Amino acid sequence: MENILKEIYQNIGEKTIMEEDKRYIMNTYSRLPIVPIRGQGVYIEDINGKKYLDFLSGIGVNNIGHCNPKLIEVIKEQMENFLIHTSNLYYIIPQIKLANKLTKLSGLDKVFFSNSGAEANETAIKLARKYGKDNNIGQGEIITMENGFHGRTLTTITATPKVDYQRGFEPLPSGFKYVSFNDLNKLMESISPKTTAIMIEPIQGEGGINIADRNYLRGVRELCDDRNLLLIFDEVQCGMGRTGKMFAYEHYNIKPDILTLAKALGGGFPIGATLAKEEVANAFGPGSHGSTFGGNHIATVSAYVTLSIIEDLLKNTQEMGEYFIKKLKSLQRKYSFIRDVRGMGLMIGMELSFNGGEIVKKMLEKGYLINCTSNTVLRFLPPLIVEKKHIDALVDSLDDVFSEIDV
Ligand SMILES: Cc1ncc(COP(=O)(O)O)c(C=O)c1O
Repeated sequence: MENILKEIYQNIGEKTIMEEDKRYIMNTYSRLPIVPIRGQGVYIEDINGKKYLDFLSGIGVNNIGHCNPKLIEVIKEQMENFLIHTSNLYYIIPQIKLANKLTKLSGLDKVFFSNSGAEANETAIKLARKYGKDNNIGQGEIITMENGFHGRTLTTITATPKVDYQRGFEPLPSGFKYVSFNDLNKLMESISPKTTAIMIEPIQGEGGINIADRNYLRGVRELCDDRNLLLIFDEVQCGMGRTGKMFAYEHYNIKPDILTLAKALGGGFPIGATLAKEEVANAFGPGSHGSTFGGNHIATVSAYVTLSIIEDLLKNTQEMGEYFIKKLKSLQRKYSFIRDVRGMGLMIGMELSFNGGEIVKKMLEKGYLINCTSNTVLRFLPPLIVEKKHIDALVDSLDDVFSEIDV
């Protein structure tokens, strides 16, 4: 066993890894020049022993921090004493226990487990269409939002109104319509006899940390109730404690008919979940949908532990989120090129008047992992265990980087 890991990790250097990546991995990501090798809590260490403070959490995945000891212990025990995988042809105890926990927390009734955010959304779309068909609600058309992001499968790139993601992959599935986010009137106008569902991220992540207005989101819920349409919330990024509540919609005192989760759900293990109200969920029957890996033993045990850890981190998320936003706003007062600072909990964006790619690279050199989305929005998604001292260090470094900018 040790020999296998040796085989993987010995005789490696940064240069070889980067060359081999180029040779063997399909070229879909513009990677930053870092080879992470270890992680603990809010820190990552690269192959050269350099330490980084992680303010991106694997794009919103490592909410409980890297290599959480409790998660490791439970997974190890699970593998040593129980099972890794059996398939969904049989009953899976941790899957049922996880579903029980998730339904109680969300106020929804049933769950389908998959392996990623895109799959969770595919499931949501299929479920909405099936329920719509069975109940004569529209013709399967789903309205999604400008600047939204729902994944990279053919259907989810179609639900994502970004031409760059769609170009070259035509023909795309039909049945999607796009409207501007946070505009209830436009949404009302776009509803037609074809409409079956409306799909929204309560906080758009990839689109630049755009927060749904309170009245807007509540208005969308009312609209769906009035017109008998399904409301799907994609909380793949903003769910799982990220905003200081387990699910972002709790801030709005409303509930979706269908909810999708992934990213942080498994603490780093791939798992997606689509939750729905009983009546909607019942549109699926045996054979309607499936996944070989979905909800397997390891993924669901990981998610079960992760959920319980996240429940204890909500308060810290709220407190650190407020502190972080306040500190970033103080930078905004100092630098006129900072257009906006916005966020909820520890899902925070800082909009600049220029492309933020270079800032990300400079912060990386200084030992901080951050990200830029939508060209101009620096995105901060630290693990929910982050402390004031980490935030202070990041903001000081950002200040240093900004002070050298000539705009
Ligand atoms: C809101 C949202 N939905 C869906 C996805 C797709 O998730 P995955 O990459 O796990 O397929 C993402 C990924 O960034 C996301 O942010």
